[in-house]
Amino acid sequence: MNEQDHTAPGTEVTPTDGHGSAVRLDEGHVVGTGGLPERFTNPGLPTHVPRMADLDEAAARRAEKQVATLFGISILGTLLFIVLYFALDVNQTVFVPGVGETSATNVGLGVCLALSLLGIGLGAVHWAKTLMPDHEVVEERHPMRASDADRAEAVRVLTEEGGKSQITRRPLIKYTLGGAMALFPLGLALQVGGSLGPMPQKSLSLTWWNGGPSGPGEEPTFKPLRLMKDPENEPIKASDVTIGSVFHVMPEGLLPNPETGEGGAKHLLEEKAKAAVLLMRLDPSQIQSQKELAWGHEGIVAYSKICTHVGCPVGLYEQQTHHLLCPCHQSTFDVTQDCKVIFGPAKRPLPQLKITVDDEGYLVSAQPFREAVGPSFWERGQ
Ligand code: FES
Repeated sequence: MNEQDHTAPGTEVTPTDGHGSAVRLDEGHVVGTGGLPERFTNPGLPTHVPRMADLDEAAARRAEKQVATLFGISILGTLLFIVLYFALDVNQTVFVPGVGETSATNVGLGVCLALSLLGIGLGAVHWAKTLMPDHEVVEERHPMRASDADRAEAVRVLTEEGGKSQITRRPLIKYTLGGAMALFPLGLALQVGGSLGPMPQKSLSLTWWNGGPSGPGEEPTFKPLRLMKDPENEPIKASDVTIGSVFHVMPEGLLPNPETGEGGAKHLLEEKAKAAVLLMRLDPSQIQSQKELAWGHEGIVAYSKICTHVGCPVGLYEQQTHHLLCPCHQSTFDVTQDCKVIFGPAKRPLPQLKITVDDEGYLVSAQPFREAVGPSFWERGQ
């Protein structure tokens, strides 16, 4: 089959060979006789219809103002965004119909950002549709199809060389190869599926403070546990905790006995990672939260050590300011205000562990954590 020349719109296209047996799609026209017409007219591009703004200068000016208004909305949205960013209190809430009580910062900044993006997007679209040139421009492409000689050579090579591999004469090889190729992905799929481990179930919401091991399928019954110094694994008397002191604490039974090395949690690192607690004593008059006071003991308060941002251990306590600082991204929590976030990317306060003292004066847990410790996850709060 021969290559066809491009033809001007409106002229007739005529096949240049006599075979009429193939359909050419790469040049946008058809050659052949098998039920298809041998002659047809190249339709060309649709007729260009001028728009209002092309014909009327007043309409063009109107369109210009509309585009400028949309870009202006975007500018206002961005400026308002900057103002609200500084003006809104992060703890302020607002009622949104259909959503309920929600963060005013999220709503305010979200709406402003939407306005600034929408203004740019709609302005650009309106500009393109009304004022930018709308003549269609065609760039001719060379045919993608290989020459007939190349195609024939490819077929010859595949047929001859493929035949030499004897795959058609040896069905046993053909079928076993097919089976091997079909089964091969199963090993990979098994590896991926099998390596995911057991479903977490409730284990992300439980800690050793719930009464013992907290892995998948394990739901311990609550019992008061002594607060133990880490790594000494010694109980802490309330009278030993002086104002300004801070202890790194683990629940009783989690760490192995320091003398015999026996006992301790089976999955020690996982359990420690969830149960770690910081214990501090403040002057009760400095504590501003009534709940914090009630959940502590004479100014001794215990908070999860796991940062609510992405789970680093909160590593620094500033005695003078009563701030807890996470070294990973500088989230800062105020211990006098129920460990509320006062700086950084964390969004939730550190959960408090309710404590009391037992008959011997040792500090014990009075209830497990009321909420999941550490960063947020998809089922948190369910
Ligand atoms: S993990 Fe604590 S601030 Fe990011």
